[in-house]
Amino acid sequence: MDDKKIIFSGVQPSGNLTLGNYLGAIRNWAKLQKDYHCIYAMMDMHTITVRQTPADIRRRTLEVLALYIACGIDPEENILFVQSHNPNHAELAWVLNCYTYMGEMQRMTQFKDKSARHADNINTGLFTYPVLMAADILLYGADYVPVGKDQMQHIEICRDIAGRFNAIYGDVFKIPEGLLSKSGAKIMSLQEPTKKMSKSDENPKAYISMMDDMNVVAKKIKSAVTDSEGVIEYRPDDESKAGINNLISIMSAVTGKTPEEIAGDYASAGYGTFKADVAEAVVEVLAPIRAEYDRLIADKAYLKDICASGAQRARAISQRTLNKVYKKVGFLQL
Ligand code: TRP
Repeated sequence: MDDKKIIFSGVQPSGNLTLGNYLGAIRNWAKLQKDYHCIYAMMDMHTITVRQTPADIRRRTLEVLALYIACGIDPEENILFVQSHNPNHAELAWVLNCYTYMGEMQRMTQFKDKSARHADNINTGLFTYPVLMAADILLYGADYVPVGKDQMQHIEICRDIAGRFNAIYGDVFKIPEGLLSKSGAKIMSLQEPTKKMSKSDENPKAYISMMDDMNVVAKKIKSAVTDSEGVIEYRPDDESKAGINNLISIMSAVTGKTPEEIAGDYASAGYGTFKADVAEAVVEVLAPIRAEYDRLIADKAYLKDICASGAQRARAISQRTLNKVYKKVGFLQL
C-alpha cells in the first residue's frame, strides 16, 4: 500500500441514523476518502449485546450501507463491509480478551450505563464489547478512528490493550488515535434541546431520521421546542436559548454560514419564519441524499455485492494482522 494513512470507523445497525449523525460524522467521512484509505463497517456483532429483533438488524444493515453510499462514500474508493462477514474480528477479540483485565472493563462508562438500562441482560458480550471494538480497529492498522465523544473511552482502552500486547511481543499493532468529530456540528434533540439528538430517543419528534420523508422532516423542525423570549440570538452558554441555539447550529451546518451570521440574518424575524427557513434548508440538503438512497435500497443485489467484495477486501488486510498475532502468542503454524 502507498503511504496514505488508514481511517477506520464503524456504526451499529440499530436505530435509524439521524441528521446529527450525518452533519456530525458521515458528511465529513465523504470528504476524507481522497486523502486516506477509509474502512467503514456495519457493526452487527456489537448490536447483539442488547436484545434485538433479528429482522431489524438484517434490514438496517443494508439501510446503513445504502445511506453511506448515498451520502457520497464511494464503495470502490473505500472499503465498506459487515463485521460478521469477516471472522477475523471475533478471532482477534478472543485473543485480546486474554490481554484485558476485568477491572478495565468494569470501569467503562458505557458498560455501566447499559447494564443499568438492561439490568435483566448484563451479558458477558456487553462486558467485553470494548475488546471486540479494539479488535475491529487493530486488525486494520488504523491510524485514525473518527468517533463521537461517548466512544473515546473505548479508543483509550484499545490503545492500552494494543500497547500492552506490543510490550510483550514487539511491534504488532499500530496504536490508533481517536478523531473527535468537529464540535460545531453537535446537533441536539428538537424536543429537549439540552440533550444530544439521539436515534434511540423514545420520542420520534426529537430527532430527524435520515429515513424520514421530507414533509416529516419539515414538520419536526417547525415543531421544535424553543423559548418564549421571541428573539433570535446565538447564546451558546445560555441554556434557556438551547432550542434556538440548536436551530441556528443546524442552519449553520447545512448552509456553511457561521452561527453569528445566521443570527444576524434573522435578527428581526420571528421564530415561525426562521423555523420555516431552517426546514427548507435542511430539506434541500437531505432530498438528493434521500432520492439516491431510495434508488439504492431498491437494488438489494447491488448492495449485497458491495458487502461481499468489501468483506473480501477487508479480510485480505485483517488476516495478515491475525496471522502475526497467532504466531506471536504461540499457536501452531501449519
Ligand atoms: N461502538 C461504536 C458505537 O456504538 C461502534 C463501533 C464498533 C466502532 N466498533 C468500532 C466505532 C470500531 C469505531 C471503531 O458507536
